[in-house]
Amino acid sequence: MTERDVATAERGREFALHGARVIVRAGALADAAALTREVAPGCRPIVIADTTVAPLHAAPIAAALGAELLTFAPGEASKTRQQWAALTDELLARQLGRDTVVVAVGGGVCGDLAGFVAATYLRGVPVVQVPTSLVAMIDAAIGGKTGVDTRHGKNLVGAFHQPAAVLVDPLALRTLPDVHRRAGMAEAIKHGVIADESYFHWMAAHGAALLAPALSAEMAQRLVLDSVAVKVQVVASDEREGGRRKILNFGHTIGHAVEHLSKYELLHGEAVAIGMVAEARLGELAGYTLPGLADDVAALCGALGLPVTIDAAFASDDIVALMRGDKKARGGVAAFALPLRLGEMNDADGCYALSLDESLLREAIAAVRS
Ligand code: GLY
Repeated sequence: MTERDVATAERGREFALHGARVIVRAGALADAAALTREVAPGCRPIVIADTTVAPLHAAPIAAALGAELLTFAPGEASKTRQQWAALTDELLARQLGRDTVVVAVGGGVCGDLAGFVAATYLRGVPVVQVPTSLVAMIDAAIGGKTGVDTRHGKNLVGAFHQPAAVLVDPLALRTLPDVHRRAGMAEAIKHGVIADESYFHWMAAHGAALLAPALSAEMAQRLVLDSVAVKVQVVASDEREGGRRKILNFGHTIGHAVEHLSKYELLHGEAVAIGMVAEARLGELAGYTLPGLADDVAALCGALGLPVTIDAAFASDDIVALMRGDKKARGGVAAFALPLRLGEMNDADGCYALSLDESLLREAIAAVRS
């Protein structure tokens, strides 16, 4: 780390969230082994990562812990019951007991998958999340959601399992491939839309710097910290998504459907960008959302190189059908978290999600066709 990075690291922050320590600090990756020992004293660590992240970040952590490193193929295609079973069998074969701590190092796929292994292994062992992608740092690793995809849709089998700790090192963004940094920006934009208007405008003002290969430590830390603050604050108010946590699903109802239809060729963040524009359009059509918000979201997503239109290959009938099977659907009717204006969501009388006429939904989809 440079002197400037060290100074930034000192300005890190720690949050407490439903028993999890969430630590955000430039340079924090170097402390992953010590933190694991601190939050899971006397436990036997096992590190899980995909084969891309393994040599970059996970192997040094495993070496520092004197732990074994289990790997799987990178990509959403690994987030399956089969991969969950394979990793679980690896733990069973090693006769690991309840004194195991799983250390998940990587992006959202790794955190969800390894988190689900931890949630279910011997009815639950602790997990330390060490997110290395932007999506994982600001969203997936925080809040205790774990799970896998099925052929019926995304994240349909899983469990809430709060990590013992989440260790976020914004400087890891420097080694993240550009396409993944851009994709992660979609979740940051979401946090701006749902709860922090000034953060949204800050991103709009600093788009080029946020995408620069030599991302400064200050920019990286602000980008991650402001987003993590929103995520922590929302989950703190509603751990199990009975109400307010649903606002984090903005962009994800249509987003998950197009992500699934793309056979996961769209990265999660890319699908969320499309979903946010479509759902903001839906909110405008339904009369809940201030007109112009969908354009603002599309402009910022577009400026950051994210897709904002639904490909003609994805039929409206298929999108609608997938949304009926979404986790948020009730009685086969899709529900949407809709913005009122930048920084404020519709609370829908405490439900935080609204079921809307299918005709309106089809109109919104048509409005964001390429
Ligand atoms: N990713 C949405 C949530 O954690 O609730």
